[in-house]
Amino acid sequence: MKKTILVLSILLISSVLPTKAQFNVQKNIDYCAVQVNKTISTLPPDGQLNIPRSINKDSKTWRLVDYQDWCSGFWSGSLWYVYEGTKKLFFKAQAERFDKQLLPLSTQKVAYDHDLGFQIFCSYGNGYRLTKNPSYKKVILNTANVLATLYNPKVGTILSWPREVQKFGAHNTIIDNMINLELLFWASKNGGNKNLYKIAETHALTTMKNHFRDDYTSYHVVLYDTLTGKKIKGMTHQGYADNTMWARGQSWAIYGFTMCYRETKNPVFLDFAQKVTDVYLKNLPDESLIPFWDFNAPDIPNTTRDASAAAVIASALFELSTLVKDKKKSALYYAKAKKMLESLSTTNYQSGSVNDAFLLHSTGNVPIGGEIDASIIYADYYYIEALLRYKKMNQKK
Ligand code: GLY
Repeated sequence: MKKTILVLSILLISSVLPTKAQFNVQKNIDYCAVQVNKTISTLPPDGQLNIPRSINKDSKTWRLVDYQDWCSGFWSGSLWYVYEGTKKLFFKAQAERFDKQLLPLSTQKVAYDHDLGFQIFCSYGNGYRLTKNPSYKKVILNTANVLATLYNPKVGTILSWPREVQKFGAHNTIIDNMINLELLFWASKNGGNKNLYKIAETHALTTMKNHFRDDYTSYHVVLYDTLTGKKIKGMTHQGYADNTMWARGQSWAIYGFTMCYRETKNPVFLDFAQKVTDVYLKNLPDESLIPFWDFNAPDIPNTTRDASAAAVIASALFELSTLVKDKKKSALYYAKAKKMLESLSTTNYQSGSVNDAFLLHSTGNVPIGGEIDASIIYADYYYIEALLRYKKMNQKK
């Protein structure tokens, strides 16, 4: 009897105490669908510039780009994710509509730069994953071959920016390039040239060796001697200085090495993904887990945050938490990813009625003053990817 009274009392007390609201993932996916609908209603018709890239602070309108822009695939990628999260065919039709515009990227004889993975794997890659449309597969395989033309076997990496070779007098590779390896791994396993796997794995191993300081923070750019393949130096392009931790650069490293372990099962990538993650987590400025744009920017805290880096890392850490064997570490990565997603889903970071993007407060390129404290399409893309990863993991549980 006593025991029953005790249990009833506990139940009663816990029912009146305030509880922390559960994170409602579907509500946030539905929010993304609302924002996408608003954007679609404002876009010019096809045939005109109409791929959304960013909305500057104090503006309400999207800066629009064409298929050649490095961000061109994130919009249809976001549409595919909204379709996946809502099952509404309207979003599938819109994703197909915008994918069509990217087709010329797959038939180029010469690659403009390494961004083909961002452009085609976020768009057609998700499209193929969700529809198995064979024409999508062809586009992905062709694009992987175009990207591979930038590989320099002497260096062991892809040339990220052919346009900068003359200026630097050197082969250059940027940390962002890690993300584009996924296109090569996928192609090698889905009917494409098997050599693409070796190219991707070698690029990742060379990057692991040359692109990081002793504390596992990443350079943005590494220059290599084109003929001997020797490293010349590490430097920045979008960070504060050559030796600082540019937040988004580190996010590409965390996401990229996590993906490389998934694709290769080579344990060195799993170990490295944790090292580049741990230095990032250790240096985050506060409980929001949203970084300033560069961890060593001298004007912190009076400088801008980068929601895009947080979105990329939230998505990566959900995956990393499923790959690490150590249960404590797995739980830590999962908890951090969830906290990042929760922070991004507050009114501090969601655009709501401010503009039609999903998120505010990303920082694109401080050194040239571009997209500072803005809404940027890649933040939206990785945010909804993280929401979907969270949703799937919780459905499994
Ligand atoms: N260069 C790609 C980026 O801004 O992350």
